[in-house]
Amino acid sequence: MSEKPIEVVDNGGIVRLTITRPKALNALNSAVLEALEATLLELEARDDLRAVLITGAGEKAFVAGADIAEMRDKTPEQARAFAQKALKTFKRLETLPVPVVALVNGFCLGGGCELALASDWAVASDNAVFGQPEVLLGVIPGFGGTQRLPRRVGPAMALDLVTTGRKIDAAEALRIGLVNQVMPQANLEAYAEELTKQLGGNGPEAVRNAKQAVHDGQDQDLDSALALETSLFALGFAGAEQKEGMNAFLEKRKPNF
Ligand code: CAA
Repeated sequence: MSEKPIEVVDNGGIVRLTITRPKALNALNSAVLEALEATLLELEARDDLRAVLITGAGEKAFVAGADIAEMRDKTPEQARAFAQKALKTFKRLETLPVPVVALVNGFCLGGGCELALASDWAVASDNAVFGQPEVLLGVIPGFGGTQRLPRRVGPAMALDLVTTGRKIDAAEALRIGLVNQVMPQANLEAYAEELTKQLGGNGPEAVRNAKQAVHDGQDQDLDSALALETSLFALGFAGAEQKEGMNAFLEKRKPNF
C-alpha cells in the first residue's frame, strides 16, 4: 500500500504536517499538493487549531522542489494550472489564522523554499540547503518565489538567488533573514516541543489577532496598518482572554486561556 502524501499529527491543536515522499526528497507533485490542500481545508474548519508545523520526511530533505519528472512534458497551460494549484494551496497555508512554522530539515529548494516562504517563519537544521535553482532548469520560480522571497530578504538578495540559482547554506539563510534560527537536526524536535508549549500557553485569540495584524498590515500604508493594529488591540478587550491574562498577572499566577 502506498504511504499517504501528508502525515498529520495533532498535539492539542498544534498540528504537525509531514510531506512523506522521502525517496523523491519530498518533491511536490500533484498528489502531494492535493493532499496538502485537503488537509488544510480540514484544518481551516477547526476552531481548536493553535499552530501548524510543516516539515519533510527523512533526514535529507524538507522539500527538494516541485516534481521535475511531472513538470517535464507540461504545456504552458498545464504548467500554469500546476503553478495555480500550488499557489492556491500555499495561500491556504499562509492565511491559516494561526502561526505556521516550517521545520526545514535538509534540502529546501525551488518549490520547497517557496513552501517555507509561505510559512510564517522557518527554522532550519544546520545541514539545510536553500535555493531557487529554477533557472538551471530553464524556468523561473512558479510557486511564489519571485514575490515572497524579495518580501522576506529584500529584492537585491532575491534577485541574486533567483537569477544565479546558487544554493546557500543554513548560516547564510540565517544571515539574510530567510530563516529565524539554525540548529543541529536532532534539536528540531526539541524546538517543536518548546514551541508547542509556548504557543499552547498563549491566548489563542491574541495569537490569531497578532498574525492578522502583521499579515494584513504588510500590504497597507503605515497609517492604515496602525489603525488596523488599534482595532485588533481594542477588540482584545472585548473577550475573556484579556481579563484572564491581566488578572493572572496582577494575581501573580499563570493565566489559564
Ligand atoms: N523533482 C523530482 N524528483 C526529485 C527532485 C525534484 N525536484 N529532487 C530530487 N528528486 C529525486 C531524484 O530524481 C532522485 O530520484 P531517483 O532515486 O529515482 O533517481 C531522488 O530524488 C534523490 O535525489 P538525488 O539522487 O538527486 O540526490 P542527491 O543527494 O544526489 O542530490 C539534490 C540532491 C541536490 C537536492 C538534487 O536531487 C537536486 O538537485 N534536485 C532538484 C532540485 C531542484 O532543481 N529543485 C527545483 C525544482 S523546479 C521548481 O521547484 C519550480 C517551481 O518553483 C515550481
